[in-house]
Amino acid sequence: MTYRDLYRDSIRDPEGFWLEQAQRLAWHEPPAQALSRDERGHYRWFHGGKLNVSHLALDAHVEAGRGEQAALLYDSPVTGSRARYTYRELRDEVARAAGMLRELGVGHGDRVILYMPMIPEAVIAMLACARLGAIHSVVFGGFAANELAVRIDDAAPRVVLTASCGIEFERVIPYQPLVNEALRRAEHAPEAVVYVRRPQAEVELQAGRDLDWHERMRAAAPAEAVPVDATDPLYILYTSGTTGKPKGVVREGGGYAVALNWSMAAIYDLHPGEVFWTASDVGWVVGHSYIVYAPLIRGCCTVVYEGKPVRTPDAGAFWRVISEYGVKSFFTAPTAFRAVKKEDPEARHLANYDLSCLESVFVAGERLDPPTYEWLAETLERPVIDHWWQTETGWPIVANPMGIEPMPVKSGSATLPVAGYDIRVLDDAGRELPAGEQGNLAIRLPLPPGCLPTLWNDDARFRRSYLERFPGYYDTADAGFIDEDGYVFVMGRVDDVINVAGHRLSTGEMEEVIGAHPAVAECAVVGVHDELKGELPVAFVVLKDGAETGQEELEGELTQAIRDEIGAIAALRRVAVVAKLPKTRSGKILRKSIRTLAQESREAVATPSTIDDPGSLDEIAEAMEAHRIGRYSDQP
Ligand code: COA
Ligand code: AMP
Repeated sequence: MTYRDLYRDSIRDPEGFWLEQAQRLAWHEPPAQALSRDERGHYRWFHGGKLNVSHLALDAHVEAGRGEQAALLYDSPVTGSRARYTYRELRDEVARAAGMLRELGVGHGDRVILYMPMIPEAVIAMLACARLGAIHSVVFGGFAANELAVRIDDAAPRVVLTASCGIEFERVIPYQPLVNEALRRAEHAPEAVVYVRRPQAEVELQAGRDLDWHERMRAAAPAEAVPVDATDPLYILYTSGTTGKPKGVVREGGGYAVALNWSMAAIYDLHPGEVFWTASDVGWVVGHSYIVYAPLIRGCCTVVYEGKPVRTPDAGAFWRVISEYGVKSFFTAPTAFRAVKKEDPEARHLANYDLSCLESVFVAGERLDPPTYEWLAETLERPVIDHWWQTETGWPIVANPMGIEPMPVKSGSATLPVAGYDIRVLDDAGRELPAGEQGNLAIRLPLPPGCLPTLWNDDARFRRSYLERFPGYYDTADAGFIDEDGYVFVMGRVDDVINVAGHRLSTGEMEEVIGAHPAVAECAVVGVHDELKGELPVAFVVLKDGAETGQEELEGELTQAIRDEIGAIAALRRVAVVAKLPKTRSGKILRKSIRTLAQESREAVATPSTIDDPGSLDEIAEAMEAHRIGRYSDQP
């Protein structure tokens, strides 16, 4: 079947299309229907079906005779260690971890927070939660204590699973001080905190609360997979919105398993027994879907890599892992390749490795800029596939269907809509725009299986954020256009979310942290282009009358505040003090104008008729020049 026929079928008859795909999985009770509406009017997939995602990802393969096949390969250049788990071994570890959690009182519907580095135990812990029907919420290890505390309060976990440390290049990051600080700040108190003790950092276990993972595992009895409803939550993954409070994206097991399994064949062209490597982190949606769930549900072998693209030990790290493990498809963020290109522009390291196993490379998380695309395509001489998705969708919205019919690539486009996603470009009034015109990218409801049904504890915010602006559609908050051939071009966010080295961050949240500084009257944080990280946040700050602080001192304090409250990944380094922020007469800060100033020119910024003081834009432009921000920077 051609891509276009298949796509058309998926939109005309979503029920039939996805019910057929659902039949490929080992359900405890297969669903009789695909799509239904719940009491709130939201679409839900496979209501009435019963399954267990850990069973699909592990037991079903062992039962099908794949027990001795490699399921997970761990490669950690930062510790110099490796490990290999067959499906049988991984199932047994997960069953014991589930037993350990059960003994701690965790059961169906309970939440468990994971704050873990890229070690096999992180994957084992996720699957162990799924095995019990418990809901995991993984918090990326680069987030500071406050972010962890906010998530602990929202998810109210019974147990926190963590480790003694993470490792960034050669730097050991002890987790216990962060976890303790988060628990001090949080109002909710989990009953237990379990530490995977690593030799690089010690922990002091607090009696009555802190436990040792390995000790508890040794004592635990294995737990069987519990059949759960297809519409039960499998996990909550918090992602940045426009305010300081992150959004708890809920993922249900049934639709997710069906969509991921389909995507592995149709998009990534991966089949049981083949090796798939996603160099990301389990703290992000890419890690949830394509390090953990999709490869294992599909019966592939996944690689868990605890390292970086560069300096662990060099810019040949990706090529080494691909050749050593026979990786067929490799997936990472464009920023990671920009890091490799910066250190090894001629790709000299490639000569040391045999990459004949590698068939294609996938990138997502941010726009694939044409120079990086060209460098990669020329260097690797293989298809380089950009694909667009969001934490909310859990799997690609737009991609090149490599397993159905590889389509010609157009530079700057993530290619064509994926089955089930009816994408439209709308103007601000919700009218559909013709081919080639840029507007808001929206998806006609129902969304396909796997996408979020709601936000944890906040259905009103779910409606407000995604459904109300364009009734009948899901609002992606990305802008873009669709060309005459149906190719989708994603141009960037329309809200205050920015993308720093593939990490999704909220400028609104940074503004809240900066605004809390005693010398700051008000501020605006915008993302400006950065050669390596894609975007970097820059703060424009108005000081309180009489505030006495020097530029350097203020920059240092604000940078530190962002590191302490959000995490080092926010990478705020530039702060410019200005007398006034450009605002409308009603007091709304003109962030978009500031962004355009940083990216383009003063002339490109239309002075809005509603602006309070046009001179404030000139002042911002002068501050950018003085501080070498955006187009005034030294970057090429
Ligand atoms: N735990 C603790 N700290 C972390 C962390 C983690 N898991 N991840 C990042 N950090 C810290 C870094 O150590 C760094 O701290 P520093 O400012 O004290 O040096 C800071 O956060 C910024 O990190 P990062 O954004 O990773 O930048 P970098 O300069 O250290 O490395 C790249 C640049 C391109 C190599 C790196 O960003 C990268 O590998 N990106 C790929 C991102 C990715 O996979 N995204 C997932 C979407 S698919
Ligand atoms: P996250 O939820 O962290 O996956 O981030 C989702 C956001 O990243 C999207 O809304 C886009 O703005 C951006 N993004 C992800 N993939 C792409 C892509 N392939 N092209 C352009 N932008 C992308």
